[in-house]
Amino acid sequence: MVKLVGGVGTSHVPSIGAAIDLGKTQEPYWKPLFAGYETARQWMKEANPDVVIIVYNDHASAFSLRLIPTFLIGVADEFLPADEGYGPRDVPVVQGDARLAWHLAESLILDEFDLAIANEMPVDHGLTVPLSIMCDQPDAWPCKVIPLCVNVIQYPPPTGMRCYKLGKAIRRALDSYDDNLKVAIFGTGGMSHQLQGERAGIINQEFDIDFLNKLGSDPESVARIPHAEYIMETGSEGIEMIMWIVMRGALDDKVQEIYRHYHVPASNTASGLIIFEND
Ligand code: DHB
Ligand code: FE
Repeated sequence: MVKLVGGVGTSHVPSIGAAIDLGKTQEPYWKPLFAGYETARQWMKEANPDVVIIVYNDHASAFSLRLIPTFLIGVADEFLPADEGYGPRDVPVVQGDARLAWHLAESLILDEFDLAIANEMPVDHGLTVPLSIMCDQPDAWPCKVIPLCVNVIQYPPPTGMRCYKLGKAIRRALDSYDDNLKVAIFGTGGMSHQLQGERAGIINQEFDIDFLNKLGSDPESVARIPHAEYIMETGSEGIEMIMWIVMRGALDDKVQEIYRHYHVPASNTASGLIIFEND
């Protein structure tokens, strides 16, 4: 059976990845952000998951408006870093776990969560930046990764409650797996940010902190936040936070908050990180 070692929610701002890749993490702008990642990296080393399910959104890298899967799971043996316009990031190739991914696909689809399935897919900053945040710059990523994409790019994205229920279905799938693996789940994106238009640069610390406070203790209230509230309160890209709710749904009803870090700004974004373990 799988041991679920924890859940991580983290922003996936591309310039955080660039700061790591270009050796800028100790520059004054970036230093306070990266200082907050040390405890998270220590947790990752100690938890040492065999596999991490990374819930993230593709930013028109693997897909375009020609094809918009609401939910999608990657079942390949490996996933190449995407070229997002300035060449692929110089990070290790992401190794998949096809056996567990196919088990998840089967269990979820038979449990009435009809995910699309990708046998081949480049992975963009939504997935690789969280790996860099949690693992720094290893020669090879220390864990296998199962990518799970959520559409937050094109209206209508799924509701927060649907994401919460997907997390619960992922947990049922993990609980019925026949191998002894340590698994972690990451939910990525957010927090408050808007990248374009009149309100570009909007940040709402009060909303973000309230979200972090309630995600652990009252996830159903967070799952009920409507799309319009994210957009009004947190900017057009704040909707990425619904992916943290998938992560939360996979954990027990009662969790312990192990660590939290919140820093404003990273690029245009309020950057947050939270780690939970089952109580
Ligand atoms: C930024 C943040 C994101 O989540 C993203 O996908 C792209 C850009 C930013 O703040 O620059
Ligand atoms: Fe994003």
